[in-house]
Amino acid sequence: MRNILITGGAGFIGSHLVRLMVNKYPDYRIINLDVLTYAGNLANLKDIEKKANYEFVKCDICDFEKVQQVFLDYQIDSVIHLAAESHVDRSIKDPFSFAQTNVMGTLALLQAAKFAWNGKFEDKLFYHVSTDEVYGSLGEEGFFTEETAYDPHSPYSASKASSDHFVRAFQDTFGLPTVISNCSNNYGAYQFPEKLIPLFINNICQSKPLPVYGKGENVRDWLFVEDHARAIDVIFHEGKQGDTYNIGGFNEWKNIDLIKVMIKTVDRLLGREEGSSEKLITYVTDRAGHDLRYAIDSTKLKEELGWEPSLQFEEGIEKTVKWYLENTEWLENVTSGEYQKYYEEMYSK
Ligand SMILES: NC(=O)c1ccc[n+]([C@@H]2O[C@H](COP(=O)([O-])OP(=O)(O)OC[C@H]3O[C@@H](n4cnc5c(N)ncnc54)[C@H](O)[C@@H]3O)[C@@H](O)[C@H]2O)c1
Repeated sequence: MRNILITGGAGFIGSHLVRLMVNKYPDYRIINLDVLTYAGNLANLKDIEKKANYEFVKCDICDFEKVQQVFLDYQIDSVIHLAAESHVDRSIKDPFSFAQTNVMGTLALLQAAKFAWNGKFEDKLFYHVSTDEVYGSLGEEGFFTEETAYDPHSPYSASKASSDHFVRAFQDTFGLPTVISNCSNNYGAYQFPEKLIPLFINNICQSKPLPVYGKGENVRDWLFVEDHARAIDVIFHEGKQGDTYNIGGFNEWKNIDLIKVMIKTVDRLLGREEGSSEKLITYVTDRAGHDLRYAIDSTKLKEELGWEPSLQFEEGIEKTVKWYLENTEWLENVTSGEYQKYYEEMYSK
């Protein structure tokens, strides 16, 4: 029996990881710790919430005493830490909450793990999930490798970079067994529709304007979220302690080209003339500090642990668009704020 604490399990990537772990490892107990900010939605986990090896704990990772109690109550032996403030635009408006959750919250978890495990580190692991945005911006050429120097530009990436440094510091100073992965942009089902792909799918469906930053020339490397969850599973079980693994799809898209693919896909699936929604594209002032290009070299993960993305992008985007078109109730509940009542209905006695 392993008792695995997954933080941020009600969020986008966390919910895919919790589902994978609960279904794949009936012998593990998966404890989902999440404070349920606007980005946390327990309805993402409806299909597994009654499973015997799944528990939900509502807790703020910054609440050190409560986190310590959770380590004790559930005899936690591993952590996979995803809880974070994750939206760059919000970090520009409110950097404090990013420093609080992403830096102080990670520190509280590290300290709680250190105390709970008390030097007995055999079979223990603190796995920190991070982003490629810590590496800064690339020019037209080249890739981020695990050796690329950190150069964050937004308050979000600065807070994630800082949390990565704390994780390494706990490995180096206290011998806490850790591993870190830095992943590129994810897309797929259950993503909060403030992020580019679900926002645009929703707006295309409703014939609302599609706000494109600058000239739409920023390049991102997109990975299907279930492939990220599979990579975390592989790294959690087989990654080398103290190491870092980059996760990416070798799948670069200029924003404007990605938007055109989404437009074509949604138009086709809705029976509209393909490309007719391009008239909705509206160019807006570029995001401050907007990084030009991210591209991940995930060769190490492929060569050492045998992980590769399972989907081609066109297939992934088709699956994703279909999911949002078929799950209008989920989308409506999220956009109306109705989803926040789910916890009350399900978990308050
Ligand atoms: N989305 C991406 O493309 C991407 C790419 C690479 C890395 N990441 C990283 O993966 C992780 C998950 O990202 P996501 O897109 O699923 O984020 P998300 O915003 O969808 O989910 C974050 C989750 O964390 C929870 N949370 C926030 N603050 C908390 C706190 N103080 N205590 C407890 N729970 C709290 C929220 O309720 C939510 O459920 C983050 O650490 C992010 O930096 C994301």
